[in-house]
Amino acid sequence: MGREFLDLFDRWASTYDETVYGGDKEYVEVFSGYDEILQSVAERTVGTVLEFGVGTGNLTAKLVALGRRVIGVEPSVEMRKLAQHRLANVPIHDGDFLHFELPIQHVDSIVSTYAFHHLTDDEKRLAARRFNTLLSMGGKVVFADTVFVDQEAKEKAIRKAQIELRSNLANDLATEYYTTVPEMTRIFQEAGFDIEFAQCNAYVWRWEATKIQPVEAQDAPAVQ
Ligand SMILES: C[S@@+](CC[C@H](N)C(=O)[O-])C[C@H]1O[C@@H](n2cnc3c(N)ncnc32)[C@H](O)[C@@H]1O
Repeated sequence: MGREFLDLFDRWASTYDETVYGGDKEYVEVFSGYDEILQSVAERTVGTVLEFGVGTGNLTAKLVALGRRVIGVEPSVEMRKLAQHRLANVPIHDGDFLHFELPIQHVDSIVSTYAFHHLTDDEKRLAARRFNTLLSMGGKVVFADTVFVDQEAKEKAIRKAQIELRSNLANDLATEYYTTVPEMTRIFQEAGFDIEFAQCNAYVWRWEATKIQPVEAQDAPAVQ
């Protein structure tokens, strides 16, 4: 659960940075403004930051440059190796959004870029409740990822990618768990957060969820 894409990331690790900087024509629009998106997420954090889906460490490096203490969680062995090699002083743990162990009980901010869509909406709900328990009141989750205005916009994006013969992108949009702005709003509001969105490019939105009330965590499902 939530880990079904890991083979893909182990294989993609060595060329991932080429893709995000324009090397894969199918994904140019998805990664348009990549550095600015990551920087805008990093700048909205404070204190000790928990990062999920670290990948090659591009957001992590920006957080470190801003003086944040970062704890990383990354399930792909190959991605984790690259990030750990680059950022030797940052602890990067094996784990995922639902299954992770931390050396501390509380964090000040939780971040992730281009990764939350690996969870189904039910898994996102569980994760959001767990985030709530890790933050103090006023603490923030700052994520950026592909999200659609509504289901119709998602279907239109899949059809457009198919017509333009961007078959990898079309398949990715159709098979991973990209959700909508209204659904993401519900997920975080039900988990005790106030939430605000900002559109970053044709696919990616950044959202800032602020904890406004405590909730009890629910048990995460077993790893599959
Ligand atoms: C598209 S990459 C994004 C990497 C980096 N955050 C960035 O912005 O470039 C997605 C990352 O999420 C990781 N990932 C996949 N499933 C995950 C899960 N269930 N929980 C946390 N991370 C996951 C992948 O291994 C990969 O490193």
